[in-house]
Amino acid sequence: MEKADAQMLLIFGASGDLTTRKLIPALYELYVRNLLPENFVILGAARTVLTDNEFRRKQCDGILTSQKELSAKDARLSLFLKRVYYMGFDTQNTDEYETLKNRVEELQNLYSLPDSIVFYMATPPEMYEVIPLGLQKCGLAYTSDGFRRIVVEKPFGTDIKSAKHLTRLLESIFDEHDIYRIDHYLGKETVQNILVLRFSNGIFEPLWNRNYIDHVEIVSSETLGIGNRGGYYESSGALRDMVQNHLLQLMAFIAMEPPVAFDPESIRDEIAKVFKSLHHYTPEEMQEQIVRGQYTAGTIAGESVQGYRDEKNVSGDSVRETYVAMKIELDNWRWAGTPFYIYTGKRLSEKKTEIIIHFKSTPQQLFVGQCSGSSCNQLIIRVQPNESIALRFGLKIPGSGFEVRQVSMDFLYSSLSDKKLPDAYERLLLDVMLGDSTLYSRADAQEASWDFIDPIIKNWVKRGKDGLAFYASGSDPEEVDRLMPHNKRCNRCNDIIK
Ligand code: BG6
Repeated sequence: MEKADAQMLLIFGASGDLTTRKLIPALYELYVRNLLPENFVILGAARTVLTDNEFRRKQCDGILTSQKELSAKDARLSLFLKRVYYMGFDTQNTDEYETLKNRVEELQNLYSLPDSIVFYMATPPEMYEVIPLGLQKCGLAYTSDGFRRIVVEKPFGTDIKSAKHLTRLLESIFDEHDIYRIDHYLGKETVQNILVLRFSNGIFEPLWNRNYIDHVEIVSSETLGIGNRGGYYESSGALRDMVQNHLLQLMAFIAMEPPVAFDPESIRDEIAKVFKSLHHYTPEEMQEQIVRGQYTAGTIAGESVQGYRDEKNVSGDSVRETYVAMKIELDNWRWAGTPFYIYTGKRLSEKKTEIIIHFKSTPQQLFVGQCSGSSCNQLIIRVQPNESIALRFGLKIPGSGFEVRQVSMDFLYSSLSDKKLPDAYERLLLDVMLGDSTLYSRADAQEASWDFIDPIIKNWVKRGKDGLAFYASGSDPEEVDRLMPHNKRCNRCNDIIK
């Protein structure tokens, strides 16, 4: 793989969980794989006062936690950490940006680095405007002989208005192609493989349309609750947290037209077209085709867990959804009449993300035991865990007669390599350092997805608790049967992938 040119990565909000749990371990892994630039510096900045060494120790713990087999004495670990620096910095205080600029220049001089910087906003979203403006004011947002790129974590806005506003603000400082809206689902190996599966094999494309596909299911279920994120989740909910970004992106990879070339803009053009073809619900369709739920107390893996309303920083009468199931239609030639079903929720019985393509069945059943309906021929893409792809079809049982049984042809990622799959952040960080935005989302796609989501949110606000289904932790809301009968839903087909 390609190696990026010398540069600095400046992480805002660096004392937070995302930096320690995800970003620094991913950067260390890239370093070990010899994919970080020969010459680099990582500068963390956040309000907490820490020395460089205190910050390094914290990041070292994060790396060791993510890589259990790694020894704290590993020479590469200390070499990597030597390039990691920290600066206590109040993002809200515009005067401090001058000090930040001085620190950046000092490190650039110390290591003879070119003036190329990736800014990573791992901060709460309230800072997404403040930081670029501060960088603009002190001049750090500009360079004459290097590059500036800025990574924005999700949520990118909370509705179309705020998303557009944020884009306008960022574009007044950075070029659109230097704005990287991150969606960590696109960094997952299995998700990238959807593109390869579809566009490097001749066998799927002829079948990949409304004529042969009955429906598609996309599931992302979690066993965890909202943890300590009550404050965030109360203003977000499952629709904004998972559907607007991760799940619609997965859907776009399945639904997009073949790009004219494998370059960022060609791919992002096709993704934006999918979002623009999302069928907007009428008020009646909203009631019929969307289910929203909230978990109550229950049992997960034998342990009792509390209900959403009892979680920290959650209102006792909250109507925030922790579960969403929806039937989505695309108004375009390829997919007219072929629905996409999306399910996502917290505190469900299993942690998994899976896409199931259900092909139409044969027009006639010739054999005894032959499966009928849209569950007979399925292509199942298991995004996580046990990453795999399986194709399900009917075969004759050995012996006399023509009795048919469903079988599954499986490909397990673990059989390709015994190495663990790279974390999503490794790929995405490497890409931004290389200047490749293929797996980052573009403003028009973001806006089209908010355009689809906004009316749903407004409708829910209007309806309050009317239509909110409660489900005991560890189970699905029963109301989801309204969208798809119980025995047909993919999460009832666990026998397929063991
Ligand atoms: C995050 C959401 O973006 O994705 C979380 O904010 C969710 O609520 C997480 O738990 C799921 O990610 P993954 O990679 O564990 O499926």
